[in-house]
Amino acid sequence: MYLHASIALVSLQLLQLGGYTSALPTEQKPLRYTKSDNVQAVRDELKKAEIIPTVIDDFLPSLTLSVSWDKKTASLGNTIKPKHLQDAPTITLHDSTDSDVSTTSNITYVITLTDPDAPSRDNPEWSEFCHWIGANVSLTEKTYSILPLPIFGFQESDTDDEEERKTGLDTVVEYKPPGPPAKTGKHRYVFLVFGPKNGTTEKLFLSTPEERKHWGTGEERGGVKIWAEKNGLVPVAANFLYAQNEKQ
Ligand SMILES: *[C@@H]1O[C@H](CO)[C@@H](O)[C@H](O)[C@H]1NC(C)=O
Ligand SMILES: *[C@@H]1O[C@H](CO)[C@@H](O)[C@H](O)[C@H]1NC(C)=O
Ligand SMILES: *[C@@H]1O[C@H](CO)[C@@H](O)[C@H](O)[C@H]1NC(C)=O
Repeated sequence: MYLHASIALVSLQLLQLGGYTSALPTEQKPLRYTKSDNVQAVRDELKKAEIIPTVIDDFLPSLTLSVSWDKKTASLGNTIKPKHLQDAPTITLHDSTDSDVSTTSNITYVITLTDPDAPSRDNPEWSEFCHWIGANVSLTEKTYSILPLPIFGFQESDTDDEEERKTGLDTVVEYKPPGPPAKTGKHRYVFLVFGPKNGTTEKLFLSTPEERKHWGTGEERGGVKIWAEKNGLVPVAANFLYAQNEKQ
């Protein structure tokens, strides 16, 4: 219980990103447990899959991220065939707290997709491989009284909204669909959403990695974490899936 309380406190600090200010709270506020359990579950799955700490340092998500294609939805480590992942997915970001501040905030977020297992998890010499960077992602304003968790399969009927969100995306690196080579086992495809550390609501000017391999860092294992730090971004949400070539 004590452990849980301190984790929730960390989450309060991250939550400030969704608000007006980047200042961290100086006083302790009453903690809410109900919905934060969901983001705790995300963190647990990220650790189990060793995404924390291999890809990103430990963090407690403050938002929940739904990633879906026509037929499939990423649900924290399910396996999806590459053929279902060919088009850029629909992204929805939800505030997983009861905070009413963030729903009116104009902060925009950055969606990324990275493969830390290129060409394979045993031999990550091209890792990480950058698959996607898109800015200008807004919170989904709709509120859900009950979040269908831990599987974030929000199936929204409102297609107009989805279209709007897709077109609002400010692409930094084009979506390159997962294409794991033959006989390289399962790859982790990790979606991370970042927010500006300084809490700005202005348009973000982000650097474009010089190449997809190693996110342009030139170093094995160089990847999204280094890029995000360089761009003043902090992680706020995540989801992931596994995919492999049919030939194993
Ligand atoms: C968000 O932007 C709109 C229009 O630019 C503005 O009217 C509104 O006050 C802004 N909201 C916040 C929370 O800054
Ligand atoms: C950001 O998205 C909004 C719609 O959500 C759109 O009106 C705006 O043009 C987009 N900005 C950029 C820079 O893509
Ligand atoms: C805040 O951070 C963003 C993203 O790193 C950057 O583009 C922007 O210039 C920063 N704004 C201020 C006022 O420091």
